[in-house]
Amino acid sequence: MKNFLITGGAGFIGANFVHHLLEKYPDYNVVVYDKLTYAGNLNNLVDASDDPRYAFIRGDICDAPTVERVIQDNEIDTIVNFAAETHVDRSIMDPDAFIQTDVYGTYVLLEAARKFGLERYHQISTDEVYGHIPPGHSSVETDPVAPRSPYAASKTSGDLMALAYWVTYKLPVTITRGANNIGPYQYPEKVVPLFVTNALEGKRLPVYGDGRQMRDYQWVGDHCAGIDVVLHRGRLGEIYNVGTGQELENLKMVEILLDELGASRDLIQHVEDRPGHDRRYSLNVDKLKALGWEPEHDCEAAIRKTVRWYVANEWWWRPIKEGEFRQYYEEMYGSRKEIAVG
Ligand code: NAD
Ligand code: TYD
Repeated sequence: MKNFLITGGAGFIGANFVHHLLEKYPDYNVVVYDKLTYAGNLNNLVDASDDPRYAFIRGDICDAPTVERVIQDNEIDTIVNFAAETHVDRSIMDPDAFIQTDVYGTYVLLEAARKFGLERYHQISTDEVYGHIPPGHSSVETDPVAPRSPYAASKTSGDLMALAYWVTYKLPVTITRGANNIGPYQYPEKVVPLFVTNALEGKRLPVYGDGRQMRDYQWVGDHCAGIDVVLHRGRLGEIYNVGTGQELENLKMVEILLDELGASRDLIQHVEDRPGHDRRYSLNVDKLKALGWEPEHDCEAAIRKTVRWYVANEWWWRPIKEGEFRQYYEEMYGSRKEIAVG
């Protein structure tokens, strides 16, 4: 494991993982392969740009000939696949790109990994594959999958294909299923960066429904450390959950966020809910802990640290919110009615 192809490495978690690898492993080389969709951003990788061990190639994971050429040219031995369409709300508006990238694109990468006999294919997955989790249970890796949004269904398909390649071809596959990540470089369509930046702009925070949905908000660096542990110490053909193992109501997350900003709770605005909104995700992370990994931040610490990053890094998020994002925001939120919550 020395020459990495990090697909989707110009996105939020992928870029954080690139920095993690370059900082921790002096003898590793990293090629980022990314289509630069609306969510991809080379500003996420400026800190790596002068590193001779790093290269960027713009390309689509659905483009098999280019993927194969990049693997050969760079003597790639390991693929870590972060490339995906990732936002549930966009998948509800238009699932097509999700099927293309998250399902077909994953297949293209698996097939290339098989063809060139790579040492490892690691698939980045999500807790959303388990679906809504009733109170009292936390998902373990052997639980059945029950995705409920087009995004979750496409990610589940990617996981199942990766597992099939392990069983059928003995391709050395591992999978991590992460809880909600937060931290530097997250596109401000996701709830935490959306709410911090809205508050900094004096705009309201559109909380879906009653705001009592539960999520495990984990620090992206803890997730990256978990992926690293699975790559180096995980068992082939296995899935590992990654999260804090805690969960928080969205309204509590908003209160912490506003408190860290010193902003008023009057900014909270309850709006019509997301269709099919999963009420609760909850991960049991014992299997990864048994490999010697521990998260360094609980949800509250992760939220506070994330808020401080966005406060300090307007250069990064302001241009995004002034670009394509405006049209998206209007489409997604423009006709969403405010609701009263008792
Ligand atoms: P992101 O949306 O910030 O970035 C996705 C990246 O993939 C972008 O750089 C984009 O340009 C690239 N991309 C999209 N389609 C592509 C294609 N066809 N070919 C090449 N590149 C393409 O996403 P993220 O939040 O960093 O998520 C990364 C991975 O982690 C995804 O697989 C996602 O499902 C998973 N995940 C995310 C979270 C989360 O909270 N954000 C939680 C668990 C798992
Ligand atoms: P999100 O960041 O989209 O992640 P996911 O749906 O993948 O968990 O949303 C996190 C939670 O925040 C989820 O319960 C939906 C809620 N949410 C809002 O209340 N308002 C918003 O504007 C957004 C984007 C999300």
